[in-house]
Amino acid sequence: MKKNTSSSAGTIQQIIPHQSRSILSEVEQKAQRILNHNLVLVKHHGKTYCRTVPSKQYYTHQWNWDSATVAMGLVHFHPQAAYDELRALISGQWENGLIAHITYNPDEELYYPQADKWRTQQFWQNGVPTSGITQPPVFAIGVEYVYDHSPDKQAAEAFLEEMLPAIIRFHEHLKTYRDPEDKGLMTIIHSWESGTDNSPRWDSVYAHVDLDKIPQSVKEDVNLHRVDDQIGEVSHRPTRENYYRFMGLIDMYAKWDWDYHKIVARSPFAVKDILFSSIWARANESLARLLKKVGRYEEAALYKEWAKQTKQAIAGTWDAEKKQYTDIDVSQGRKEKIAEPTIATFVPLWAEAVTDTQLPKLIENLTDPKTFWTPYPIPSTAINSPKFEIARYWRGPTWPITNMFIIEGLLRYKDRHPKAEQLAEQLIDSTLEMMIQNDFYEYYDPTHGKGEKFNQKEIKEPTLHFGFADFSWSAAIFISLYERYRKH
Ligand code: SER
Repeated sequence: MKKNTSSSAGTIQQIIPHQSRSILSEVEQKAQRILNHNLVLVKHHGKTYCRTVPSKQYYTHQWNWDSATVAMGLVHFHPQAAYDELRALISGQWENGLIAHITYNPDEELYYPQADKWRTQQFWQNGVPTSGITQPPVFAIGVEYVYDHSPDKQAAEAFLEEMLPAIIRFHEHLKTYRDPEDKGLMTIIHSWESGTDNSPRWDSVYAHVDLDKIPQSVKEDVNLHRVDDQIGEVSHRPTRENYYRFMGLIDMYAKWDWDYHKIVARSPFAVKDILFSSIWARANESLARLLKKVGRYEEAALYKEWAKQTKQAIAGTWDAEKKQYTDIDVSQGRKEKIAEPTIATFVPLWAEAVTDTQLPKLIENLTDPKTFWTPYPIPSTAINSPKFEIARYWRGPTWPITNMFIIEGLLRYKDRHPKAEQLAEQLIDSTLEMMIQNDFYEYYDPTHGKGEKFNQKEIKEPTLHFGFADFSWSAAIFISLYERYRKH
């Protein structure tokens, strides 16, 4: 298959048959096997939940945005499992509406930090242990996708009625605590909430989290119990200092009893996140459409309004010179733009927040081979950034999840930019190819791993895959892209 350089791809329907059909369906079956393999039964207070772990190598609990994405793959071959996945995701929803970023399996101890490190026990519902922060709200989008792709419409209607109260409570929670100014941009209080843990976007913000002020007990806990850098490759993972700060924030928030008003106002880490806000806008559109399906038009109008407000606010963060959207550090009264060149700047496409004047400039940035249009796009950090690291988690690798957001985003603009559809096709093509050739890893080498030198280090062995293996959302994204865009 060609690289993403100068190819002239066909229509969406034609793109996938570049691969032989038998290879594609073989890989799809493999993806299904991985999802089956990663399915676990978890008991809480006598109730059994059926849900998917991201990877049995390390991520042995349920993650919020992973699960919403996994459901989008499951529905194509096992709709009941897709319903169960999202049911399990809301099983631990807090009384205040929070759907936490991790819903723990009490029988698993491998992953660090374990449930008790959060000191959130007073908020657990029905005995379901959770973390105390959230993640990009893909949940409503996942529910809409599952509803739309369910073969059994009656079952889908019942599922929707079951999910709507949880989505509404979650969105009301986020609006109350994460947009107290009612201006549309969402505040995150930990980089784990962005899903992009160690992105260069957070470097200047974490500089406010003084290492010397983090209690020694927190650092010792990290030194003694952190295992991702032993199970996984240390050079792929966030650094030791990152982890001190990640856990330092958690310790601080636990001491503040998880009072989100207080945390948002006082934490050294409080950022208006472009990626989170884009997904928030897109999720409110989903919620509005779902409410219309059940005849709740007035409520639908409210969430549509929220989406509109957020889109305008995102457009307002545009930095014309850098051709990108910017996060805003709002910690402790600050108001500082963060203009690191990262994948986050393209997620507003999915929210349809990009204005007509911004669109050509954003696409110019996306398709520049010196920044983001690498042989296997889209790197999580621009390759010409001094902060780019080819293998280190969110500082370089290409991730299927963000590719999927941007594919869908480009398709929303297909009538407004002459290259949008073709770029989406190329991205579908390269995203599938990474998985066909290298199995379902967490993320991939954006440069094709040929040993090119990019600032920090030379990759000696050609490899395309990084992170943990047999990764659920990569498998789910393969299924979802293949099922939707193959030629029937
Ligand atoms: N991504 C984080 C981790 O690697 C958790 O959300 O642990």
